[in-house]
Amino acid sequence: MARGNAATEHHVVEVAKPTEQECVLVVGPGPGVGLAAAAERARHVIGVDPSQEMLDLCAQRCADAVEAGTVVLRHATAEHTGVDDESVDVVLGVNTLHLWEDRAGALRELHRALRPGGRMVLSAHEKWLPVGRHALARETEAAGFTDVQTWVWQPPTPFAGRAVQLRAWRQH
Ligand SMILES: C[S@@+](CC[C@H](N)C(=O)[O-])C[C@H]1O[C@@H](n2cnc3c(N)ncnc32)[C@H](O)[C@@H]1O
Repeated sequence: MARGNAATEHHVVEVAKPTEQECVLVVGPGPGVGLAAAAERARHVIGVDPSQEMLDLCAQRCADAVEAGTVVLRHATAEHTGVDDESVDVVLGVNTLHLWEDRAGALRELHRALRPGGRMVLSAHEKWLPVGRHALARETEAAGFTDVQTWVWQPPTPFAGRAVQLRAWRQH
């Protein structure tokens, strides 16, 4: 998974462009490739995943940043992140939204976590996406996000399938 999805994880960080002043919430980081990439750019990164195995892999990959306190890992979900209201600047999630049991609730939770003016970038394997990208955009708007954009992206990795990606904002 770390190798197969690495290009998409890096691409999503590049689309979101977190700055060194910003706090990033990574939802479902899995083995932590995108989490580590975000940690190279942002002030603070929080990773939430319900799998202890995945959190352990993140902790190994980002050992120095965890030790320094710039990366914090939490056993939590997209539906219940445990972060304070309006406390993060950027939300990232790659190949995780098809696993959310309550997608509408998760989108509302991620909107709650973002500060006004903050942004969210999600990516999903097109073949795994449980809804079409236009329906996903409507669900994202229903959760309170604005300026929702979706597109299809082809990872440069051999044999990788297309990804549906989404960027949305919490209104100022
Ligand atoms: C297919 S992996 C993708 C990991 C990584 N982002 C990547 O693309 O390589 C899906 C990840 O989402 C996590 N996950 C499952 N249900 C979740 C939920 N409700 N909220 C957040 N993460 C979840 C899994 O534990 C796993 O780490």
